[in-house]
Amino acid sequence: MHSLLEGLKLNNRRWAAGKLAVDPGFFTRLANQQSPEFLWIGCSDSRVPANEIVGLDPGELFVHRNVANLAPPQDANYLSVLQFAVDVLKVKHIMVVGHYGCGGVTAAVDGQRRGLVDHWLHPIREVYAENRQTLECIHDDRERMDRLCELSVTRQVKNVASDVFVQDAWARGQEISVHGWVYSIADGLVNDLNVSVSSPAELQALF
Ligand code: CO
Repeated sequence: MHSLLEGLKLNNRRWAAGKLAVDPGFFTRLANQQSPEFLWIGCSDSRVPANEIVGLDPGELFVHRNVANLAPPQDANYLSVLQFAVDVLKVKHIMVVGHYGCGGVTAAVDGQRRGLVDHWLHPIREVYAENRQTLECIHDDRERMDRLCELSVTRQVKNVASDVFVQDAWARGQEISVHGWVYSIADGLVNDLNVSVSSPAELQALF
């Protein structure tokens, strides 16, 4: 265990040195301020590393991750991140990024009891219930869960775009777009669900 951590510290020294070799001002510049243009709301899954997937450096992506990439309107953690991103950082784009094969999405609807996480995943069961007819026409289990991943992301886009922080920002004339993506662990590619909204009118048209 100890040597595993020593390995990480060694990696860290090498990584920082590598950054400095390319750009000597890299860390001093970041120490002064962050000005990311993007907020990423993604899953905690270790296979979905936000910055790496979209090739962004430290300072370029504000990140919020939780189990199954949810944006629940009552969650103080997510709301704090959203408000800071919108009001202070003034990000231009918010991406809700799900991923195919999400264990959280499957766990939400497999009928097994796991404890606290069953409460956390409740919004996904609601999405399932709202789309039961469509989903139950899909007979392949994996395909049905993939579709549920997409539907849940779309629902989170709606949550973010209808939140008062985003609504008020739009009313002030601030430019923000909310997007829904699903990442494929199997090939490393992002699938844009084309549910982007940039104004109250677009939100209304989409939902
Ligand atoms: Co996941």
